[in-house]
Amino acid sequence: MNLSKIILDAEEFIRQMYADEASGHDYLHIKRVVTNAQKILVNVTADSDLVILSAWLHDLGDYKLNGGIDKSAELIRQFLEKKNVDEEKINRMITIVSEVSFSKGKKVSSIEAAIVQDADRLDAIGAIGIARCFAFGGSRNRLIYGENEEQKATSSVQNFYDKLLRLKDLMNTETAKHIALKRHQFMEEFLEKLSEEIN
Ligand code: NI
Repeated sequence: MNLSKIILDAEEFIRQMYADEASGHDYLHIKRVVTNAQKILVNVTADSDLVILSAWLHDLGDYKLNGGIDKSAELIRQFLEKKNVDEEKINRMITIVSEVSFSKGKKVSSIEAAIVQDADRLDAIGAIGIARCFAFGGSRNRLIYGENEEQKATSSVQNFYDKLLRLKDLMNTETAKHIALKRHQFMEEFLEKLSEEIN
C-alpha cells in the first residue's frame, strides 16, 4: 500500500486541527519535526513513509493537548482506519508514537521510532526550543523564572534543567546528536545571558 497520499492527508488534517494551538505544539512544530525526520532519514536506512506519517501524527491526542488524557492510540487508529491503512501498519505507528514522548520515558524498539523521537526532541532544544519552552510555560501560567525555591521549581526556566539540557545525550542517531550539540551550546549561552540580566 502506498502511504504517500495518506501523508498529504495527514498534513492537511494536522494543519486544520492544530493551526491555532499556542502552547508550542502547533502545526508548525509538527511540520518542523517532519523536516527534522527527513534530515535524519538522509543518513539512516528506515521505512521512510512510516517515519514521516508517524511524525505528522506524533502529537495527535497527546495528553498535554487533551486535558491530561492520552487519546493518542485511539485518534491515530481512527484517522488511519478511515484511510484504509492495514492493521499491521496502524499498530506499528501507534507503537512508534507511544515511544516518542520524553515524559513516558520509553525505550525505542525500532529505528523508525528512534528517528521520530530524535526529530521531536530536536525541536525542544536550541533557539526554537527556548521559544517553545516559554510559550508552553505561559500557556500553563508558569513564571519565566522564580525568586524563591517554590517559584523556581515550577518556573519555565526549571524545565531547562529538568529536561532540555538532558536531551543532547538522549539522541539516538548520529545526525541528531550532531544537530543537538550546536543547539545545546546555544541554550547554555542563553541561560548564561539570562542569569546575567536577571541577577
Ligand atoms: Ni511534538
